[in-house]
Amino acid sequence: MKDMIIYPGSFDPITLGHFDLIQRAARMTDHLVVAVLQNPNKKGFFTVEERVEMLKICTKDMPNVSIDSSGGLLVDYINKKGGKLILRGLRAVSDFEYELQYAMLNQRLDKSIEAIYLMTASEYSFLSSSVVREIGHLGGDISGMVPEAIVDTVKQRLLLAGKQK
Ligand code: PNS
Repeated sequence: MKDMIIYPGSFDPITLGHFDLIQRAARMTDHLVVAVLQNPNKKGFFTVEERVEMLKICTKDMPNVSIDSSGGLLVDYINKKGGKLILRGLRAVSDFEYELQYAMLNQRLDKSIEAIYLMTASEYSFLSSSVVREIGHLGGDISGMVPEAIVDTVKQRLLLAGKQK
């Protein structure tokens, strides 16, 4: 396996599904970089700084994991970092089509970059950042959906935003 793996995503916010993947991938490489990138198709709720901060809190005891963020194209970011390997998670068949398209586009932009995929743990296959945001906005219980260390922060931010609507 490569000495560096880059795990890009929106992480808006990080879920337990993401966290499980981070833990597993960290065992596969010397250095795992979790990078918050912009998904032009998603408006985003938490600021990039907030997402980075939450990722840092959740991974603070993982010495070979670092957190980063970038605008622009993923392939440009990977090249700037000197990496070659992207990690993405697959929850269900429905993710496959989206990931296939991205993998092909990234390959077209830079043939030297490869992507690897890990299946999300079955207990988190229903989970996404968007369901966390939806439940949190409406005052539902999001514990067991995001890492314990950020449950209160996420809850408060979402609840406040939900009330302001
Ligand atoms: O968690 P997400 O929203 O599925 O992550 C998607 C993300 C952010 C990895 C993707 O949108 C991305 O790579 N954005 C950077 C811009 C880019 O390179 N787009 C792909 C061009 S084909």
